[in-house]
Amino acid sequence: MSPFSILVLHGPNLNLLGQREPSVYGSTTLADIESQLTTLASQLGCQVTSLQSNHEGHLVDAIQNAAPQHQGLLINAAAYTHTSVAIRDALSAVSLPAVEVHLSNIYRREAFRHHSYIAPVVIGQISGFGAQSYALGLQALVHHLQNLS
Ligand code: DQA
Repeated sequence: MSPFSILVLHGPNLNLLGQREPSVYGSTTLADIESQLTTLASQLGCQVTSLQSNHEGHLVDAIQNAAPQHQGLLINAAAYTHTSVAIRDALSAVSLPAVEVHLSNIYRREAFRHHSYIAPVVIGQISGFGAQSYALGLQALVHHLQNLS
């Protein structure tokens, strides 16, 4: 039984999933994703806590305060992926293992989405599998943590 607690962070506009550009992001709501992650977490023997915020500073605060309660971060920083040095610096500062996820394949979209400030400071990135990106990301993160301990 893994003792890990994972903080799942959702950035701006992800509260609108299900109604927001369904041709890009699908019809799954954020509540659906959180429920799927909770089920998967119990299968993996870990716990997840989710937080969505439209505010950069709230996400920075959550990253800073994640340890010691949480041992890893699963993050979809949404638009802040492409703009936020502050979120990148917070991830670097806490040095908690993190996995970056995106519902859409950011490399098949507009050029401004091709750069992630976060990618260089996380273990890895999963992009393009819809809600399944979160499940794949959680599995990868737990596997990484299990190999550390
Ligand atoms: C996103 C991709 C970002 O470019 C976009 O700003 C989002 C969602 C995704 O999950 O595909 O809000 O992170």
